[in-house]
Amino acid sequence: MGILAVVNQKGGVGKTTVALGLASAAMIRGRRALVVDMDPQANATTGLGVFDATTTIDEVLAEDRAGAASAAVRSSGWEPAVGHAPDLVPSSPRLAQREHQLATDPIGAQDRLRVALDGLADRYDDVIIDCPPSLGLLTVNALFAADRVLIVAEPAAWSLDGVEQILRNVRRIADRQSGRPDVAGIVVNRLGRTRDAGYWFAQLQETHGDLLLEPAISARAAVTEAAAQSMPIHLLRRDGAEEAGDQFAALARALDSRPAADAVTSLPTQRLDLTAELDRSDVVAPAAGVAAFSREL
Ligand SMILES: Nc1ncnc2c1ncn2[C@@H]1O[C@H](COP(=O)(O)OP(=O)(O)OP(=O)(O)O)[C@@H](O)[C@H]1O
Ligand SMILES: [Mg+2]
Repeated sequence: MGILAVVNQKGGVGKTTVALGLASAAMIRGRRALVVDMDPQANATTGLGVFDATTTIDEVLAEDRAGAASAAVRSSGWEPAVGHAPDLVPSSPRLAQREHQLATDPIGAQDRLRVALDGLADRYDDVIIDCPPSLGLLTVNALFAADRVLIVAEPAAWSLDGVEQILRNVRRIADRQSGRPDVAGIVVNRLGRTRDAGYWFAQLQETHGDLLLEPAISARAAVTEAAAQSMPIHLLRRDGAEEAGDQFAALARALDSRPAADAVTSLPTQRLDLTAELDRSDVVAPAAGVAAFSREL
């Protein structure tokens, strides 16, 4: 899979959930995975059962040295009966300050993570970078470090806007780096059976059908519980966990088999203007419906 950045500037769409689901899938497939937590919220770090990190991605980025990330690597707290537990470069809330400091560096602001992973990424089958909900310098560092970008979208109002913004940013970075990173695709997460979810899913299909990966990840309480218990979804024993695990495993296989897409050609030629097609009240009401559905879980 190489180095995969899991992105969306929108908060709460499931970036961390998908990153951890893919790490769990790698584990049960006997692959060596490294998760790099680039989010000051450190949700991937705690989701991997690490609560006492001392050396984190914050120190790594401060150091600005080739291979610096090696010093921060540690095992996750996951305990598989077979296969390898993923390794982790943990995060900490201190990382939020680092982003401001990076902005004052005229030379190494954008590619410190790429430099820090030098020589380390090769030791793993899959390197998965969990990004924060912004398109700031932390996400930009992840995009510069990545071979491929996985966009997580939820079937909810305005998700198209976010996807197009990311695609534009990926294209600008790829233009500067001989085509790297590629767009691995878009995964729809937290797909429910409501009419609203179906509507927004159809919008994503219509606009970015060529990039949509299968399967979409269904909304399931088991997914939330795995994160809350710092458990890999594939080792959780409760209703829906097996089905969710199967979806993440299938997504991992789809990522392996999908040829790289071109961020330039996959941008829609004409931007879909939802406000022109729909009365605004029609748009707001379905979004509220999806939020209510999520709360029910
Ligand atoms: N498929 C799903 N089914 C049920 N709940 C889900 C699913 N995906 C994510 N969630 C829940 O939604 C919430 C947000 O998910 P997550 O933290 O992965 O999003 P995120 O994009 O990483 O958020 P942030 O932008 O804050 O980093 C979490 O409580 C998570 O457990
Ligand atoms: Mg997250």
